[in-house]
Amino acid sequence: MEHYIGIDIGSTATKCVAVDRGGNVLAQAVVPSGAGTRADVRAIDLLYGSFAGKREECAGTIATGYGRMLYAGADKQISEITCHAKGLHRILPEVRTIIDVGGQDLKAIIIDEMGMIEQFAMNDKCAAGTGRFLEVMCRVMNIELSEMSEYDSRAREICQISNTCTVFAESEVISKLAQGYAIEDIVAGIYDSIARKISGLVKRVGIRREVALTGGGGLNEGLVRALERHIGVNIQVPPQPQIIGALGAALLAAD
Ligand SMILES: Nc1ncnc2c1ncn2[C@@H]1O[C@H](COP(=O)(O)OP(=O)(O)O)[C@@H](O)[C@H]1O
Ligand SMILES: [Mg+2]
Repeated sequence: MEHYIGIDIGSTATKCVAVDRGGNVLAQAVVPSGAGTRADVRAIDLLYGSFAGKREECAGTIATGYGRMLYAGADKQISEITCHAKGLHRILPEVRTIIDVGGQDLKAIIIDEMGMIEQFAMNDKCAAGTGRFLEVMCRVMNIELSEMSEYDSRAREICQISNTCTVFAESEVISKLAQGYAIEDIVAGIYDSIARKISGLVKRVGIRREVALTGGGGLNEGLVRALERHIGVNIQVPPQPQIIGALGAALLAAD
């Protein structure tokens, strides 16, 4: 079966997607990037284990993401911004503002009705406003990332976390725990803090409706709720937000 592959080698997770000539998704895989391990090879192996396509039937591969230069099997490398825009425009064509919350970076991208990039802003200098912030806080609270949104939905009030800096916010969370604040309320405060940081970046590029959240950050319903509060507009989340960049890369390969 002829197919095209997009691989998004992020700092935190490596995602790959296979599409047919028409851009329909045939298979996908997500693996942790990890230090010193060949996440690209693991992701591709997992992908081929999950659909009928054979490696020799691959008609094109595009790599994107932070580690895109590392993957030997790519025909071409394309920036994450272009790939997120391509992938999201395919799934939610009415969206004009894309917010990508990854493991170590945060981007806001404005696209036009054709899906072309008009403007973008990025923070990749610190963990504030990224998925890493959530990971660090989960470790401190001894809960799983996948449980955070559920805690948030049970919060009675937002426990204010005033430091945006991850290192200071971590100490602040530890002291809130010691003061006896409920985990639910602390989680709501964590989402509120990261949403404040994200909305600052988004407001810099100017918000244009519709707005969507992609990247692993999109897996957090609690973050979506907090962002909607801060930005003041409804936020859409594609069904599988984390693979949007890889999908865009695969679609560009098929083009
Ligand atoms: N099950 C989950 N629930 C909530 N958040 C998650 C989950 N899995 C991953 N994440 C978040 O996604 C982030 C990674 O997102 P991703 O877009 O893959 O990053 P990158 O492209 O930078 O590697 C993690 O830092 C984490 O915060
Ligand atoms: Mg990414």
